Amino acid sequence: MQRSLAYALSPAPGLPLRFLLAAPWFGVLAALLLFGAGEHAFVSRWSAPALGATHLLTVGYLGMAMAGSILQLIPVVTGSVLTLSRAAATLSWCGLALGALLLAAALAANLAFLFLPAALCAAGAFAILIAAIAKTLARRAPPPAMPMVRGMRLAVAGLVVTLALGVTLALAFGGMLAVPVPMLADLHAAWGLLGWVGMLVVGVAFQVIPMFQSSRMYPAPVTRWAPWLLAALLAAWSAAVIAGGVGASLAAALLCAALFAFAALSAQLLATRKRKQADATTLYWRLALGSLAGSTLLHLLAPQPQAALATGILFIGGFAIGAVNGMLYKIVPFLLWYHLQQDPRAKKGEVPPIRLILPDALARRQFWWHAAALAALLGASLLPAWLGRPASALLAVASGLLALDLRRAAVRCRAIKALFQPS
Ligand code: HEM
Repeated sequence: MQRSLAYALSPAPGLPLRFLLAAPWFGVLAALLLFGAGEHAFVSRWSAPALGATHLLTVGYLGMAMAGSILQLIPVVTGSVLTLSRAAATLSWCGLALGALLLAAALAANLAFLFLPAALCAAGAFAILIAAIAKTLARRAPPPAMPMVRGMRLAVAGLVVTLALGVTLALAFGGMLAVPVPMLADLHAAWGLLGWVGMLVVGVAFQVIPMFQSSRMYPAPVTRWAPWLLAALLAAWSAAVIAGGVGASLAAALLCAALFAFAALSAQLLATRKRKQADATTLYWRLALGSLAGSTLLHLLAPQPQAALATGILFIGGFAIGAVNGMLYKIVPFLLWYHLQQDPRAKKGEVPPIRLILPDALARRQFWWHAAALAALLGASLLPAWLGRPASALLAVASGLLALDLRRAAVRCRAIKALFQPS
């Protein structure tokens, strides 16, 4: 059951756009950090530069992109207003940006005094966003919006757990708390990647794959129970890790199986969709779903902890950033076009079609750079001395191209708007 969308409730364009346009620049920064560190960054998932780059990508890139997408999608899909003042949006944008930068610096250069301010900035920024989002998500949503809303509610809860664990780790790294760091770091990483990022992508996929890719809808029992199943398995795994029991491996295997099944079902929906032509977003969904399936297989079948870095690269760079990049190429030109179209001064023929605001050819070009960067990063986890720097350079090019494609589209639309004559 696909429901008509409440575009009239779209927030002012600047609200989501400021987050969406900033996101890929954190990919450029992560790539520069990895390039500077060279092969040392790729020796293990615990290397200082890898931890720094991880937070430029998870707090900066994914945090900004997910904040922007949520702010746009919730009111339009649920038909319920989301209130976030300009000042609060600016504060959370600055907090996310500064938090990502400080956290990356603290982790990459081992600067104990930076952990507390970094954690306060990032957690404070997320808290502002969570307060606004949670208020809207707590309202009753129309049944067709529920698959996405359910995923988002659980994802926000996952983010709260991630942040609580992240702040605890930061206090420990700042010398203010004594805690079992390796265990908390594993829990924090799992809640961040699966409970927050993974859950959000699953919930959003239920809405946007049928909507933007013209596929069949996901089966109702899947959208009803899959988010709860993921959350329950993650909670069971966490309990087993804390208790130190043997159940952790079983819960992890079941989590991997559930995520693999989601990837396989989504890939099947994409393969049997009505529209045969694949645009850049379709290519990105294929990459994201293939990477998700690959990361679960790697986690289950490859020797650990040696394969952990490659698993993380596939999950963050292939699955999460893949899904986000595809969404950015869909949402940003649509938003720009929609707000030009809504301008009362716009006359017939003055607003270009979406495909001219950001041509698919540019998005496809960027997709192949990103796919090459992902392949090279995976290679660098095996051959750090040979591929560490080339892979980082490719990631910088891919993220930079995305940032510039989006920025140029925004600048072009601003120029068109400036030409509108008062009616
Ligand atoms: C307030 C915000 C955050 C703080 C203060 C924080 C802090 C930390 C710290 C101190 C570590 C290092 C653990 C160690 O070296 O043992 C870490 C690891 C990690 N964090 Fe965060 N974090 C935050 C947000 C996030 C978010 C939102 C994600 C989202 C996915 C995330 C994902 C990760 C991952 C994946 C690792 C492990 C990296 C690895 O094992 O290679 N963090 N975090």
